[in-house]
Amino acid sequence: MKTRLFSPGPVMVEEPVRQSLLHYDICHRSPEFEELYKAICGKVVRLFEGDDSYCAVVVSGSGTSANETCLSSVFAPGDEALLINNGEFGGRLLEILTKYEVPLTNLKFEWGEMPDLAAVEKALQENEKIKWVCMVFHETSTGMINPVHEVGELVKKYDRKYYVDCVSAAAGEHIEVVKNHIDLCSSVGGKCLGAYPGSAYVCGREEIMNVAPEQGKNVYLNLGKHYQMMKKCWQTPNTPNVTLFWALDAALDWTLEKEGLEGRIARYQECAKILRGGMKEMGLKFLLPEEQMANTVTSVFLPEGKPVEPFIAAMAADGYTVYPGKGKFLEMNMFQVANMGAIYPDDCREFLEVLKKNIQ
Ligand SMILES: Cc1ncc(COP(=O)(O)O)c(C=O)c1O
Repeated sequence: MKTRLFSPGPVMVEEPVRQSLLHYDICHRSPEFEELYKAICGKVVRLFEGDDSYCAVVVSGSGTSANETCLSSVFAPGDEALLINNGEFGGRLLEILTKYEVPLTNLKFEWGEMPDLAAVEKALQENEKIKWVCMVFHETSTGMINPVHEVGELVKKYDRKYYVDCVSAAAGEHIEVVKNHIDLCSSVGGKCLGAYPGSAYVCGREEIMNVAPEQGKNVYLNLGKHYQMMKKCWQTPNTPNVTLFWALDAALDWTLEKEGLEGRIARYQECAKILRGGMKEMGLKFLLPEEQMANTVTSVFLPEGKPVEPFIAAMAADGYTVYPGKGKFLEMNMFQVANMGAIYPDDCREFLEVLKKNIQ
């Protein structure tokens, strides 16, 4: 039976993306790779809606590897971070910053609580050592879109730098790095872009990306090294997952050329609307008000008294992968439905039929 992934990554890929894996073998120290890498980097900047002052690098690894590449590299001694933390993946950024011993203010909110902008502004006013404000764009554990633009305005007002984890947002939301004053951000192919896991990327202002490799606290996940090799010869510092570069390129082409970023986001919005409309008709309750929800993840509670594990197993038996809620939401029998990757309106309608059967 064909499995249909309604989970927030990995996702189902379009046929040209799958076929691209069959490309003949190439070496990463070759002109052919350099041409491919150069094309990918340009397309990644377009994905984030950057201008000429932005550039990109690819990191062979999961989304965390790109996040860690950024956060282990940009802090000079004495620089502090302000972390806006309202979910599992805000917590993951905390773990990274703590591991690299970055002094930080952890502005913690409940999971599913919208960050308080007054608290963000106060933290910036009170501590001039805060160089970087860090936040997740789409907090996947709840499906919430954080106030990226509003925080960006504060970053600009107080003349700080802005890092945004866009792992579950790139190609699903408009990132608009220029308008949102984002200096550095990261994502991975195997989510809204519809490529495979393992191909992560970083996009940022060139002046930020051009950081001294010696300042980086990680050998492999080193932003300065990646930048220098990209700039010098369109190569990567270490042996990359070459095959996945073809797939990443094919997914970028699908998104930017075939479907268009606008078209892709509109499809995601349409799919989410169908899913949410159907769930509401079934009487299911959402974690968040709809205006706070991402285009690609819906966090929803099972009917009273219906446990989540057997439900997830029943959906899987019917060929559908959905996620159990995380943290305290698991105990509340919440589950998550994602419409990322090659999922179309008809797939969502079919999904609703199966969901209806399994919540009874
Ligand atoms: C917002 C966000 N950040 C980071 C990660 C970690 O990504 P990965 O599991 O690819 O390392 C995820 C994974 O779902 C995520 O949704």
